Amino acid sequence: MDVIDTIKSRRTIKEFLPEFVSWDKISKILDAARHAPSCGNVQNWKFVVVIETEVKQQLAEAALQQYEILNAPVLIVVCAEPEKAGRYYGERGEHLFSIQNCASATQNMLLEAHSLGLGARWIGGFEEEMVKRILSLPEEVQPQVIVAIGHPKEVPAKPPKMPLESLVYFNTWRNRLRDPTKYMGDYSAIIKRKLHTTKEAIKKPFLVDKKE
Ligand SMILES: Cc1cc2nc3c(=O)[nH]c(=O)nc-3n(C[C@H](O)[C@H](O)[C@H](O)COP(=O)(O)O)c2cc1C
Repeated sequence: MDVIDTIKSRRTIKEFLPEFVSWDKISKILDAARHAPSCGNVQNWKFVVVIETEVKQQLAEAALQQYEILNAPVLIVVCAEPEKAGRYYGERGEHLFSIQNCASATQNMLLEAHSLGLGARWIGGFEEEMVKRILSLPEEVQPQVIVAIGHPKEVPAKPPKMPLESLVYFNTWRNRLRDPTKYMGDYSAIIKRKLHTTKEAIKKPFLVDKKE
C-alpha cells in the first residue's frame, strides 16, 4: 500500500479480538516509533510495553474506565523525558517539542500497526499521576499516550474529515484563493465535481453536423 493509502485507511479501533499478536509485529511497531522525527533528533521518548493482564486492567481504569482496551494484547505507553528537550530548547523544548516528538512517534506506530494488518487506538484520556504510579515512572518522566494494539474486532466507518479548502490559507490567515482548483489539483472538491461533469459530457454521443 502507498503511504497515502495507509494514512487514509487507518482508523481508530475501539474494540479488539482477544488474539495474540506476534512479538515480531510489536517490535516492528516499536521500531517505526524510534524512526520518527524529534527536535534536534533528541529522541527523548521511552516506550513501556504492557502485556500483563493486571497492569493492563490498572491502565484501563486510569484511562477513564476505557475497559474495551483490555482485549488488546498489548498496550504501549509513550513516555516523554521533557527535561532532555528542555536542555537544548528551553521552555519550548520542554513543554511543546516533547509533546510533538511523542505525537510523531505515536503516529508512526499507528501507521505501522495498520500496515501490518493490525488495529490501534490512540488513548490520550487518562489520569497522568495514576499511570505514573502504575508503571513506576520517575518524577521527570511524563506518560503522554497509551497505544492499544491488536486485531480489530471491527473497523469503523471513516469519520468525516474536513475538506482542504476549509483548512488551508495562503500567505496570510484566512486568505483563501479564488480558484483553489488551480493549486490543489485532484484534492479539491471543486475539481472533483468538474471532473464528474466532464466525464458525463464525454459519455454523450458526439454530434456530427449533417449539412457539411
Ligand atoms: C490527542 C488524541 C487523544 C485521543 N484520545 C483518545 C481516547 O482517549 N480514547 C479513544 O478512544 N480515542 C482517542 N483518540 C482517537 C480519536 O478519537 C480519533 O483519532 C478520532 O475520532 C478520529 O478517528 P480516526 O483516528 O479513525 O481518523 C485520541 C486521538 C488523539 C490525537
